[in-house]
Amino acid sequence: MRQKYWWQEVVVYQIYPRSFKDSNNDGIGDLPGIIEKLDYLEKLGIGAIWLSPVYQSPNDDNGYDISDYEAIMTEFGTMEDMERLIQEADKRQIKIVMDLVVNHTSDEHAWFVEAKKSKDNPYRDYYVWANPSADGGVPNGLRSAFSGSAWQLDETTGQYYLHLFSKKQPDLNWQNEKVRQAVYQMMNFWIDKGIGGFRMDVIDLIGKVPEQEITGNGPRLHEFLQEMNQATFGKHDLLTVGETWGATPEIAKLYSNPDRHELSMVFQFEHIGLDQQAGGEKWDLAPVDLGQLKQIFAKWQTELDNQGWNSLFWNNHDLPRMISRWGNDTNYRVESAKMLAILLHMQKGTPYIYQGEEIGMTNTAITDISQAKDIESINMYQERLANGFTKEAIIQSINAKGRDNARRPVQWSNQAYAGFSTVEPWIAVNENYSSINVEQALADPDSIFYTYQKLIALRKANPLMIWGDFELLDTKEAVFAYLRKYQGETWLVVTNFSDDCHEFHYSNPQAKATELVIANMPIELSESLDLQLKPWQAFVVKLEE
Ligand code: GLC
Ligand code: CA
Repeated sequence: MRQKYWWQEVVVYQIYPRSFKDSNNDGIGDLPGIIEKLDYLEKLGIGAIWLSPVYQSPNDDNGYDISDYEAIMTEFGTMEDMERLIQEADKRQIKIVMDLVVNHTSDEHAWFVEAKKSKDNPYRDYYVWANPSADGGVPNGLRSAFSGSAWQLDETTGQYYLHLFSKKQPDLNWQNEKVRQAVYQMMNFWIDKGIGGFRMDVIDLIGKVPEQEITGNGPRLHEFLQEMNQATFGKHDLLTVGETWGATPEIAKLYSNPDRHELSMVFQFEHIGLDQQAGGEKWDLAPVDLGQLKQIFAKWQTELDNQGWNSLFWNNHDLPRMISRWGNDTNYRVESAKMLAILLHMQKGTPYIYQGEEIGMTNTAITDISQAKDIESINMYQERLANGFTKEAIIQSINAKGRDNARRPVQWSNQAYAGFSTVEPWIAVNENYSSINVEQALADPDSIFYTYQKLIALRKANPLMIWGDFELLDTKEAVFAYLRKYQGETWLVVTNFSDDCHEFHYSNPQAKATELVIANMPIELSESLDLQLKPWQAFVVKLEE
Protein backbone atom coordinates (compact mmCIF):
# COMPACT_ATOMS: atom_id res chain seq x y z
CA MET A 1 0.00 0.00 0.00
CA ARG A 2 1.30 3.38 -0.98
CA GLN A 3 1.29 6.38 1.32
CA LYS A 4 -1.71 8.63 0.76
CA TYR A 5 -1.36 12.38 0.34
CA TRP A 6 -3.75 15.29 0.90
CA TRP A 7 -3.25 16.46 -2.68
CA GLN A 8 -4.78 13.26 -3.99
CA GLU A 9 -7.99 13.89 -2.09
CA VAL A 10 -8.71 17.55 -2.81
CA VAL A 11 -10.12 19.42 -5.78
CA VAL A 12 -7.97 22.38 -6.89
CA TYR A 13 -9.38 25.67 -8.19
CA GLN A 14 -7.27 27.82 -10.50
CA ILE A 15 -7.39 31.60 -10.14
CA TYR A 16 -6.12 33.96 -12.83
CA PRO A 17 -5.87 36.98 -10.51
CA ARG A 18 -6.10 39.68 -13.16
CA SER A 19 -9.59 38.48 -14.09
CA PHE A 20 -10.97 37.10 -10.84
CA LYS A 21 -12.27 40.03 -8.74
CA ASP A 22 -11.34 43.70 -8.64
CA SER A 23 -11.61 45.07 -5.08
CA ASN A 24 -10.46 48.67 -5.61
CA ASN A 25 -12.15 49.37 -8.93
CA ASP A 26 -9.20 50.02 -11.18
CA GLY A 27 -10.38 47.37 -13.65
CA ILE A 28 -7.79 44.78 -12.58
CA GLY A 29 -8.42 41.81 -10.33
CA ASP A 30 -6.34 41.71 -7.16
CA LEU A 31 -5.49 39.83 -3.95
CA PRO A 32 -8.10 41.52 -1.72
CA GLY A 33 -10.62 40.56 -4.41
CA ILE A 34 -9.65 36.91 -3.97
CA ILE A 35 -9.93 37.19 -0.18
CA GLU A 36 -13.45 38.61 -0.62
CA LYS A 37 -14.46 35.48 -2.52
CA LEU A 38 -12.94 32.83 -0.26
CA ASP A 39 -16.32 32.09 1.32
CA TYR A 40 -17.68 31.35 -2.13
CA LEU A 41 -14.81 28.95 -2.82
CA GLU A 42 -15.29 27.32 0.57
CA LYS A 43 -18.92 26.78 -0.32
CA LEU A 44 -17.84 25.09 -3.54
CA GLY A 45 -15.70 22.78 -1.42
CA ILE A 46 -12.23 23.10 -2.94
CA GLY A 47 -9.10 22.23 -0.95
CA ALA A 48 -6.47 24.27 -2.78
CA ILE A 49 -6.09 27.27 -5.06
CA TRP A 50 -3.54 27.33 -7.86
CA LEU A 51 -2.78 31.02 -8.10
CA SER A 52 -1.46 32.16 -11.48
CA PRO A 53 1.54 34.50 -11.01
CA VAL A 54 1.12 37.44 -8.61
CA TYR A 55 4.77 38.51 -8.59
CA GLN A 56 6.17 41.81 -9.81
CA SER A 57 6.04 41.84 -13.58
CA PRO A 58 5.92 44.26 -16.52
CA ASN A 59 3.07 42.06 -17.82
CA ASP A 60 4.31 41.31 -21.29
CA ASP A 61 2.76 37.86 -20.74
CA ASN A 62 0.43 38.77 -17.85
CA GLY A 63 2.74 37.88 -15.00
CA TYR A 64 4.48 34.91 -16.62
CA ASP A 65 7.37 37.36 -17.11
CA ILE A 66 8.61 37.96 -13.56
CA SER A 67 10.91 40.83 -12.64
CA ASP A 68 11.02 40.09 -8.90
CA TYR A 69 10.06 36.69 -7.45
CA GLU A 70 9.88 38.02 -3.90
CA ALA A 71 7.64 41.03 -4.50
CA ILE A 72 3.92 41.25 -5.27
CA MET A 73 2.71 42.98 -8.43
CA THR A 74 1.67 46.48 -7.36
CA GLU A 75 -1.64 46.20 -9.22
CA PHE A 76 -2.49 43.04 -7.24
CA GLY A 77 -1.68 44.39 -3.76
CA THR A 78 1.08 44.02 -1.21
CA MET A 79 3.02 41.26 0.52
CA GLU A 80 0.72 41.84 3.52
CA ASP A 81 -2.28 41.09 1.29
CA MET A 82 -0.55 37.90 0.14
CA GLU A 83 0.13 36.81 3.71
CA ARG A 84 -3.45 37.59 4.63
CA LEU A 85 -4.68 35.51 1.69
CA ILE A 86 -2.62 32.52 2.88
CA GLN A 87 -4.02 32.90 6.41
CA GLU A 88 -7.62 33.48 5.40
CA ALA A 89 -7.51 30.53 3.02
CA ASP A 90 -5.99 28.38 5.73
CA LYS A 91 -8.91 29.18 8.04
CA ARG A 92 -11.13 27.59 5.41
CA GLN A 93 -8.87 24.55 4.90
CA ILE A 94 -7.73 25.89 1.54
CA LYS A 95 -4.05 25.79 0.57
CA ILE A 96 -2.42 28.27 -1.77
CA VAL A 97 -0.37 26.74 -4.59
CA MET A 98 1.91 29.32 -6.19
CA ASP A 99 2.85 29.46 -9.86
CA LEU A 100 6.58 28.86 -10.22
CA VAL A 101 7.85 30.40 -13.46
CA VAL A 102 11.54 29.59 -13.57
CA ASN A 103 12.23 28.52 -17.12
CA HIS A 104 12.63 32.23 -17.80
CA THR A 105 12.42 35.61 -16.09
CA SER A 106 11.37 39.02 -17.37
CA ASP A 107 14.05 40.97 -19.22
CA GLU A 108 13.44 43.54 -16.48
CA HIS A 109 14.58 41.14 -13.74
CA ALA A 110 17.73 42.43 -12.00
CA TRP A 111 19.63 39.30 -13.11
CA PHE A 112 18.99 40.01 -16.78
CA VAL A 113 19.61 43.74 -16.42
CA GLU A 114 23.04 42.79 -15.11
CA ALA A 115 23.62 39.93 -17.53
CA LYS A 116 23.28 42.04 -20.63
CA LYS A 117 25.73 44.69 -19.44
CA SER A 118 28.82 42.78 -20.62
CA LYS A 119 30.07 39.34 -21.54
CA ASP A 120 32.00 39.08 -18.29
CA ASN A 121 29.24 40.28 -15.99
CA PRO A 122 28.83 37.85 -13.05
CA TYR A 123 25.20 37.29 -14.09
CA ARG A 124 25.99 36.67 -17.77
CA ASP A 125 25.75 32.88 -17.36
CA TYR A 126 22.36 33.10 -15.66
CA TYR A 127 20.95 33.21 -19.19
CA VAL A 128 21.62 31.47 -22.50
CA TRP A 129 23.81 33.35 -24.97
CA ALA A 130 25.13 32.40 -28.40
CA ASN A 131 27.18 34.01 -31.14
CA PRO A 132 25.60 34.77 -34.49
CA SER A 133 25.79 31.91 -37.00
CA ALA A 134 28.48 31.95 -39.71
CA ASP A 135 26.26 34.04 -42.00
CA GLY A 136 25.71 36.57 -39.23
CA GLY A 137 22.09 35.54 -38.53
CA VAL A 138 20.38 33.80 -35.62
CA PRO A 139 22.41 30.96 -34.02
CA ASN A 140 20.00 28.21 -35.07
CA GLY A 141 16.42 27.38 -35.98
CA LEU A 142 14.82 27.33 -32.52
CA ARG A 143 11.43 29.03 -32.55
CA SER A 144 9.59 30.97 -29.90
CA ALA A 145 6.21 29.62 -28.77
CA PHE A 146 4.99 33.15 -29.45
CA SER A 147 6.08 33.17 -33.14
CA GLY A 148 9.40 33.99 -34.79
CA SER A 149 12.92 33.01 -33.81
CA ALA A 150 13.71 32.11 -30.20
CA TRP A 151 16.90 34.19 -30.45
CA GLN A 152 17.11 37.93 -29.95
CA LEU A 153 20.20 39.99 -30.75
CA ASP A 154 21.57 42.05 -27.89
CA GLU A 155 23.18 45.07 -29.57
CA THR A 156 25.54 45.89 -26.70
CA THR A 157 27.46 42.62 -26.72
CA GLY A 158 26.71 41.36 -30.22
CA GLN A 159 25.40 38.03 -28.92
CA TYR A 160 21.93 36.54 -29.07
CA TYR A 161 19.95 35.47 -26.00
CA LEU A 162 17.42 32.65 -25.97
CA HIS A 163 13.72 33.27 -25.36
CA LEU A 164 11.44 30.27 -25.91
CA PHE A 165 8.53 32.66 -25.24
CA SER A 166 8.46 36.45 -25.81
CA LYS A 167 11.56 38.62 -26.26
CA LYS A 168 10.79 39.92 -22.80
CA GLN A 169 11.08 36.41 -21.33
CA PRO A 170 14.78 35.46 -21.56
CA ASP A 171 15.43 31.80 -20.71
CA LEU A 172 17.37 31.02 -17.54
CA ASN A 173 20.42 28.79 -17.87
CA TRP A 174 19.70 25.82 -15.62
CA GLN A 175 23.09 24.29 -16.36
CA ASN A 176 24.43 27.06 -14.11
CA GLU A 177 24.50 25.85 -10.52
CA LYS A 178 24.10 29.43 -9.25
CA VAL A 179 20.79 29.78 -11.08
CA ARG A 180 19.50 26.60 -9.53
CA GLN A 181 20.55 27.63 -6.01
CA ALA A 182 18.98 31.07 -6.44
CA VAL A 183 15.69 29.49 -7.53
CA TYR A 184 15.71 27.06 -4.60
CA GLN A 185 16.34 29.90 -2.16
CA MET A 186 13.40 31.80 -3.61
CA MET A 187 11.18 28.70 -3.37
CA ASN A 188 12.10 28.35 0.31
CA PHE A 189 11.18 32.01 0.86
CA TRP A 190 7.64 31.11 -0.26
CA ILE A 191 7.53 27.76 1.53
CA ASP A 192 8.38 29.61 4.76
CA LYS A 193 5.31 31.79 4.21
CA GLY A 194 3.13 28.70 4.53
CA ILE A 195 2.09 28.04 0.95
CA GLY A 196 0.65 24.69 -0.10
CA GLY A 197 2.84 23.99 -3.12
CA PHE A 198 3.90 24.96 -6.60
CA ARG A 199 2.50 24.69 -10.11
CA MET A 200 5.61 24.63 -12.26
CA ASP A 201 5.37 26.55 -15.50
CA VAL A 202 6.78 24.77 -18.61
CA ILE A 203 9.02 22.81 -16.27
CA ASP A 204 9.88 20.26 -18.95
CA LEU A 205 11.97 22.95 -20.70
CA ILE A 206 14.55 23.55 -17.94
CA GLY A 207 16.80 20.72 -19.15
CA LYS A 208 17.15 22.34 -22.58
CA VAL A 209 20.28 22.01 -24.68
CA PRO A 210 19.79 24.92 -27.08
CA GLU A 211 22.91 24.31 -29.17
CA GLN A 212 21.44 20.93 -30.13
CA GLU A 213 17.98 22.43 -30.51
CA ILE A 214 16.73 20.28 -27.61
CA THR A 215 14.08 22.10 -25.57
CA GLY A 216 11.64 19.67 -23.86
CA ASN A 217 12.77 16.64 -21.82
CA GLY A 218 16.46 17.51 -21.85
CA PRO A 219 19.04 15.05 -20.49
CA ARG A 220 19.42 16.65 -17.03
CA LEU A 221 15.73 17.52 -16.45
CA HIS A 222 15.03 14.84 -13.85
CA GLU A 223 18.35 15.35 -12.13
CA PHE A 224 17.39 19.02 -11.64
CA LEU A 225 13.96 18.16 -10.30
CA GLN A 226 15.38 15.67 -7.81
CA GLU A 227 17.86 18.30 -6.68
CA MET A 228 15.05 20.85 -6.36
CA ASN A 229 12.91 18.42 -4.39
CA GLN A 230 15.74 17.83 -1.92
CA ALA A 231 16.63 21.50 -1.58
CA THR A 232 13.08 22.74 -1.14
CA PHE A 233 9.67 21.07 -0.92
CA GLY A 234 10.86 17.50 -0.30
CA LYS A 235 10.93 18.09 3.44
CA HIS A 236 7.39 19.50 3.42
CA ASP A 237 3.99 18.08 2.62
CA LEU A 238 3.32 20.12 -0.54
CA LEU A 239 1.47 19.72 -3.82
CA THR A 240 3.74 20.06 -6.84
CA VAL A 241 2.37 19.88 -10.36
CA GLY A 242 4.47 20.30 -13.47
CA GLU A 243 3.21 21.73 -16.73
CA THR A 244 4.60 19.20 -19.22
CA TRP A 245 3.30 19.55 -22.77
CA GLY A 246 5.38 16.69 -24.12
CA ALA A 247 4.63 14.08 -21.45
CA THR A 248 3.70 10.50 -22.31
CA PRO A 249 2.59 8.14 -19.52
CA GLU A 250 6.16 6.80 -19.36
CA ILE A 251 7.52 10.31 -18.90
CA ALA A 252 4.78 11.21 -16.41
CA LYS A 253 5.88 8.29 -14.23
CA LEU A 254 9.42 9.68 -14.16
CA TYR A 255 8.06 12.89 -12.69
CA SER A 256 5.41 11.52 -10.38
CA ASN A 257 6.48 8.11 -9.13
CA PRO A 258 6.84 8.87 -5.40
CA ASP A 259 9.91 6.63 -5.20
CA ARG A 260 11.79 9.04 -7.47
CA HIS A 261 11.21 12.12 -5.26
CA GLU A 262 10.34 14.60 -7.97
CA LEU A 263 6.78 16.00 -8.26
CA SER A 264 3.30 15.06 -7.04
CA MET A 265 1.86 15.00 -10.56
CA VAL A 266 2.01 16.64 -13.97
CA PHE A 267 -0.43 18.26 -16.35
CA GLN A 268 -0.33 16.24 -19.56
CA PHE A 269 -1.85 17.65 -22.73
CA GLU A 270 -2.29 14.69 -25.05
CA HIS A 271 -6.07 15.12 -25.31
CA ILE A 272 -5.73 18.87 -25.75
CA GLY A 273 -4.08 18.41 -29.15
CA LEU A 274 -6.96 16.37 -30.56
CA ASP A 275 -8.63 19.24 -32.41
CA GLN A 276 -5.66 20.39 -34.41
CA GLN A 277 -4.45 19.17 -37.78
CA ALA A 278 -1.73 16.52 -37.70
CA GLY A 279 1.63 18.21 -38.05
CA GLY A 280 0.06 21.66 -37.68
CA GLU A 281 -0.05 24.21 -34.90
CA LYS A 282 -2.90 24.68 -32.46
CA TRP A 283 -4.36 27.31 -34.80
CA ASP A 284 -4.83 24.73 -37.58
CA LEU A 285 -8.31 23.59 -36.62
CA ALA A 286 -9.72 20.07 -36.94
CA PRO A 287 -12.77 18.39 -35.38
CA VAL A 288 -12.16 16.36 -32.24
CA ASP A 289 -12.22 12.57 -32.62
CA LEU A 290 -14.16 11.20 -29.63
CA GLY A 291 -12.89 7.69 -30.14
CA GLN A 292 -9.35 8.95 -29.71
CA LEU A 293 -10.33 11.08 -26.75
CA LYS A 294 -11.63 8.00 -24.95
CA GLN A 295 -8.54 5.98 -25.76
CA ILE A 296 -6.23 8.72 -24.52
CA PHE A 297 -8.13 9.18 -21.26
CA ALA A 298 -8.25 5.44 -20.70
CA LYS A 299 -4.55 5.10 -21.42
CA TRP A 300 -3.64 7.75 -18.84
CA GLN A 301 -6.05 6.28 -16.31
CA THR A 302 -4.60 2.80 -16.52
CA GLU A 303 -0.94 3.31 -17.40
CA LEU A 304 0.12 5.47 -14.46
CA ASP A 305 -1.21 2.68 -12.29
CA ASN A 306 0.44 2.85 -8.88
CA GLN A 307 3.55 4.54 -10.14
CA GLY A 308 2.32 8.06 -10.57
CA TRP A 309 -0.71 10.28 -10.18
CA ASN A 310 -2.90 12.04 -12.74
CA SER A 311 -4.16 15.57 -12.79
CA LEU A 312 -7.55 16.02 -14.44
CA PHE A 313 -8.58 19.21 -16.24
CA TRP A 314 -10.59 20.56 -19.13
CA ASN A 315 -9.59 24.19 -18.78
CA ASN A 316 -6.89 26.59 -17.74
CA HIS A 317 -5.80 30.15 -18.53
CA ASP A 318 -4.13 29.02 -21.78
CA LEU A 319 -7.05 27.07 -23.22
CA PRO A 320 -10.39 28.01 -24.75
CA ARG A 321 -13.33 27.06 -22.54
CA MET A 322 -14.17 23.39 -23.02
CA ILE A 323 -17.91 24.01 -22.91
CA SER A 324 -17.54 26.09 -26.09
CA ARG A 325 -14.86 23.86 -27.55
CA TRP A 326 -16.19 20.30 -27.32
CA GLY A 327 -19.39 20.90 -25.39
CA ASN A 328 -22.38 22.84 -26.68
CA ASP A 329 -22.52 26.38 -25.30
CA THR A 330 -25.83 27.29 -26.94
CA ASN A 331 -28.62 24.66 -26.92
CA TYR A 332 -27.13 22.41 -24.25
CA ARG A 333 -24.93 24.73 -22.23
CA VAL A 334 -26.06 23.55 -18.80
CA GLU A 335 -26.35 19.87 -19.77
CA SER A 336 -22.96 19.71 -21.49
CA ALA A 337 -21.21 21.65 -18.71
CA LYS A 338 -22.52 19.20 -16.10
CA MET A 339 -21.71 16.23 -18.30
CA LEU A 340 -18.10 17.42 -18.74
CA ALA A 341 -17.82 17.88 -14.99
CA ILE A 342 -19.14 14.40 -14.19
CA LEU A 343 -17.00 12.74 -16.86
CA LEU A 344 -13.83 14.36 -15.53
CA HIS A 345 -14.36 14.27 -11.77
CA MET A 346 -15.29 10.60 -11.76
CA GLN A 347 -11.87 9.69 -13.18
CA LYS A 348 -8.87 8.83 -11.05
CA GLY A 349 -6.60 11.77 -10.27
CA THR A 350 -6.73 15.27 -8.81
CA PRO A 351 -9.35 17.43 -10.56
CA TYR A 352 -8.69 21.09 -11.37
CA ILE A 353 -11.46 23.63 -11.92
CA TYR A 354 -10.62 26.84 -13.78
CA GLN A 355 -12.37 30.01 -12.58
CA GLY A 356 -15.80 30.42 -14.16
CA GLU A 357 -15.96 26.77 -15.26
CA GLU A 358 -18.20 26.06 -12.27
CA ILE A 359 -20.86 28.42 -13.64
CA GLY A 360 -20.46 27.45 -17.31
CA MET A 361 -18.71 30.57 -18.63
CA THR A 362 -18.19 30.45 -22.39
CA ASN A 363 -15.72 31.66 -25.03
CA THR A 364 -16.00 35.24 -26.31
CA ALA A 365 -15.57 35.90 -30.02
CA ILE A 366 -13.67 38.90 -31.36
CA THR A 367 -14.14 40.41 -34.81
CA ASP A 368 -10.88 42.31 -35.10
CA ILE A 369 -7.35 41.83 -33.79
CA SER A 370 -7.54 45.19 -31.99
CA GLN A 371 -9.79 43.40 -29.47
CA ALA A 372 -7.12 40.82 -28.60
CA LYS A 373 -4.99 41.27 -25.48
CA ASP A 374 -2.86 38.13 -25.56
CA ILE A 375 0.66 38.40 -26.94
CA GLU A 376 0.44 34.87 -28.35
CA SER A 377 -2.58 35.72 -30.52
CA ILE A 378 -1.26 39.13 -31.54
CA ASN A 379 2.15 37.79 -32.64
CA MET A 380 0.57 34.86 -34.46
CA TYR A 381 -1.81 37.21 -36.27
CA GLN A 382 1.08 39.28 -37.63
CA GLU A 383 3.08 36.22 -38.62
CA ARG A 384 0.20 34.46 -40.39
CA LEU A 385 -0.91 37.65 -42.14
CA ALA A 386 2.63 38.02 -43.50
CA ASN A 387 2.47 34.37 -44.61
CA GLY A 388 -0.66 34.91 -46.70
CA PHE A 389 -3.45 33.69 -44.38
CA THR A 390 -6.67 35.70 -44.62
CA LYS A 391 -7.67 37.91 -41.74
CA GLU A 392 -10.94 35.95 -41.41
CA ALA A 393 -9.15 32.61 -41.10
CA ILE A 394 -6.80 33.94 -38.44
CA ILE A 395 -9.60 35.48 -36.40
CA GLN A 396 -11.49 32.19 -36.65
CA SER A 397 -8.48 30.39 -35.16
CA ILE A 398 -8.16 32.96 -32.39
CA ASN A 399 -11.83 32.60 -31.53
CA ALA A 400 -11.50 28.82 -31.40
CA LYS A 401 -8.18 28.55 -29.56
CA GLY A 402 -7.03 31.95 -28.30
CA ARG A 403 -6.12 32.32 -24.65
CA ASP A 404 -8.19 35.47 -24.10
CA ASN A 405 -11.25 33.19 -24.11
CA ALA A 406 -10.33 32.00 -20.63
CA ARG A 407 -9.19 35.41 -19.43
CA ARG A 408 -12.43 37.40 -19.51
CA PRO A 409 -13.52 38.69 -16.09
CA VAL A 410 -15.37 36.25 -13.85
CA GLN A 411 -19.08 36.92 -14.08
CA TRP A 412 -20.21 37.55 -10.51
CA SER A 413 -23.59 39.20 -11.09
CA ASN A 414 -25.80 40.84 -13.70
CA GLN A 415 -24.59 44.31 -12.69
CA ALA A 416 -22.38 46.45 -14.92
CA TYR A 417 -19.10 44.75 -15.88
CA ALA A 418 -20.51 41.51 -14.47
CA GLY A 419 -19.91 42.70 -10.93
CA PHE A 420 -16.18 42.16 -11.49
CA SER A 421 -15.45 45.87 -11.17
CA THR A 422 -17.33 49.16 -11.32
CA VAL A 423 -15.12 50.45 -14.14
CA GLU A 424 -14.19 49.12 -17.58
CA PRO A 425 -12.02 46.03 -16.91
CA TRP A 426 -8.59 45.51 -18.52
CA ILE A 427 -10.27 43.03 -20.90
CA ALA A 428 -13.92 43.27 -21.92
CA VAL A 429 -16.51 41.08 -20.19
CA ASN A 430 -18.52 38.53 -22.12
CA GLU A 431 -21.91 40.06 -22.89
CA ASN A 432 -23.71 36.95 -21.67
CA TYR A 433 -23.01 37.91 -18.03
CA SER A 434 -26.58 39.12 -17.59
CA SER A 435 -27.78 35.51 -17.61
CA ILE A 436 -24.59 33.59 -16.75
CA ASN A 437 -23.22 34.72 -13.40
CA VAL A 438 -22.43 33.50 -9.90
CA GLU A 439 -25.38 35.22 -8.27
CA GLN A 440 -27.79 33.46 -10.63
CA ALA A 441 -25.97 30.14 -10.20
CA LEU A 442 -26.18 30.28 -6.42
CA ALA A 443 -29.89 31.08 -6.53
CA ASP A 444 -30.75 28.15 -8.83
CA PRO A 445 -30.56 24.73 -7.11
CA ASP A 446 -30.25 23.10 -10.56
CA SER A 447 -27.28 25.20 -11.66
CA ILE A 448 -23.92 23.93 -12.88
CA PHE A 449 -22.40 25.26 -9.64
CA TYR A 450 -24.30 22.72 -7.55
CA THR A 451 -23.19 19.85 -9.76
CA TYR A 452 -19.57 20.82 -9.06
CA GLN A 453 -20.35 21.26 -5.38
CA LYS A 454 -21.94 17.82 -5.27
CA LEU A 455 -19.03 16.18 -7.12
CA ILE A 456 -16.62 17.61 -4.57
CA ALA A 457 -18.79 16.50 -1.65
CA LEU A 458 -19.06 13.00 -3.15
CA ARG A 459 -15.29 12.86 -3.45
CA LYS A 460 -14.92 13.68 0.25
CA ALA A 461 -17.43 10.99 1.25
CA ASN A 462 -16.41 8.19 -1.13
CA PRO A 463 -12.85 6.82 -1.18
CA LEU A 464 -13.83 4.98 -4.38
CA MET A 465 -13.74 8.26 -6.27
CA ILE A 466 -10.14 8.83 -5.25
CA TRP A 467 -8.64 5.35 -5.13
CA GLY A 468 -10.90 3.14 -7.25
CA ASP A 469 -9.58 1.35 -10.33
CA PHE A 470 -10.70 2.60 -13.72
CA GLU A 471 -12.08 0.39 -16.49
CA LEU A 472 -13.20 1.78 -19.86
CA LEU A 473 -16.35 0.21 -21.31
CA ASP A 474 -16.60 -0.61 -24.97
CA THR A 475 -19.38 1.65 -26.23
CA LYS A 476 -20.41 3.48 -29.36
CA GLU A 477 -18.25 6.43 -30.20
CA ALA A 478 -20.16 9.33 -28.63
CA VAL A 479 -20.94 7.35 -25.48
CA PHE A 480 -18.13 7.54 -22.96
CA ALA A 481 -18.67 5.08 -20.13
CA TYR A 482 -16.45 3.50 -17.51
CA LEU A 483 -16.40 1.71 -14.20
CA ARG A 484 -14.66 2.60 -10.96
CA LYS A 485 -14.05 -0.27 -8.55
CA TYR A 486 -12.89 -0.17 -4.97
CA GLN A 487 -13.08 -2.67 -2.12
CA GLY A 488 -15.93 -4.66 -3.61
CA GLU A 489 -17.92 -1.60 -4.68
CA THR A 490 -18.54 -0.67 -8.34
CA TRP A 491 -19.73 2.62 -9.83
CA LEU A 492 -20.85 2.92 -13.42
CA VAL A 493 -20.30 6.28 -15.15
CA VAL A 494 -22.23 6.84 -18.39
CA THR A 495 -22.03 9.99 -20.51
CA ASN A 496 -23.25 11.01 -23.93
CA PHE A 497 -20.69 13.32 -25.53
CA SER A 498 -22.95 14.61 -28.30
CA ASP A 499 -26.02 16.52 -29.47
CA ASP A 500 -27.73 13.26 -30.51
CA CYS A 501 -29.54 10.48 -28.69
CA HIS A 502 -27.57 7.25 -28.29
CA GLU A 503 -28.26 3.82 -26.92
CA PHE A 504 -26.39 2.42 -23.98
CA HIS A 505 -26.46 -1.27 -23.05
CA TYR A 506 -24.54 -2.60 -20.12
CA SER A 507 -22.84 -5.85 -21.14
CA ASN A 508 -23.94 -7.90 -18.15
CA PRO A 509 -27.77 -8.33 -18.26
CA GLN A 510 -27.67 -9.49 -14.63
CA ALA A 511 -26.23 -6.21 -13.39
CA LYS A 512 -28.49 -3.87 -11.44
CA ALA A 513 -28.22 -0.20 -10.61
CA THR A 514 -28.88 0.00 -6.90
CA GLU A 515 -28.44 3.71 -6.25
CA LEU A 516 -28.18 6.90 -8.25
CA VAL A 517 -25.02 8.81 -7.30
CA ILE A 518 -25.32 11.88 -9.51
CA ALA A 519 -26.93 12.85 -12.82
CA ASN A 520 -27.33 15.93 -15.00
CA MET A 521 -31.00 15.29 -15.82
CA PRO A 522 -33.83 13.28 -14.30
CA ILE A 523 -33.40 9.55 -14.86
CA GLU A 524 -35.43 6.42 -14.09
CA LEU A 525 -33.18 3.66 -12.88
CA SER A 526 -33.96 0.85 -15.26
CA GLU A 527 -33.22 -2.62 -13.95
CA SER A 528 -31.74 -3.81 -17.19
CA LEU A 529 -29.40 -0.88 -17.82
CA ASP A 530 -30.59 -0.65 -21.40
CA LEU A 531 -31.09 3.03 -22.03
CA GLN A 532 -31.72 5.60 -24.68
CA LEU A 533 -29.40 8.48 -23.70
CA LYS A 534 -30.51 12.04 -24.30
CA PRO A 535 -28.08 14.60 -25.74
CA TRP A 536 -25.26 15.26 -23.24
CA GLN A 537 -26.87 13.01 -20.64
CA ALA A 538 -24.61 11.87 -17.82
CA PHE A 539 -25.21 9.76 -14.74
CA VAL A 540 -23.40 7.65 -12.19
CA VAL A 541 -24.93 4.66 -10.45
CA LYS A 542 -23.80 2.08 -7.93
CA LEU A 543 -23.78 -1.31 -9.56
CA GLU A 544 -24.46 -4.79 -8.31
CA GLU A 545 -23.40 -7.64 -10.56
C1 GLC B 1 2.96 28.45 -19.63
C2 GLC B 1 1.87 29.34 -19.10
C3 GLC B 1 1.54 30.36 -20.13
C4 GLC B 1 2.76 31.19 -20.38
C5 GLC B 1 3.96 30.32 -20.75
C6 GLC B 1 5.24 31.09 -20.61
O1 GLC B 1 2.55 27.73 -20.73
O2 GLC B 1 0.78 28.56 -18.70
O3 GLC B 1 0.46 31.17 -19.75
O4 GLC B 1 2.53 32.10 -21.42
O5 GLC B 1 4.09 29.21 -19.92
O6 GLC B 1 5.50 31.37 -19.27
CA1 CA C 1 -7.88 46.15 -8.60
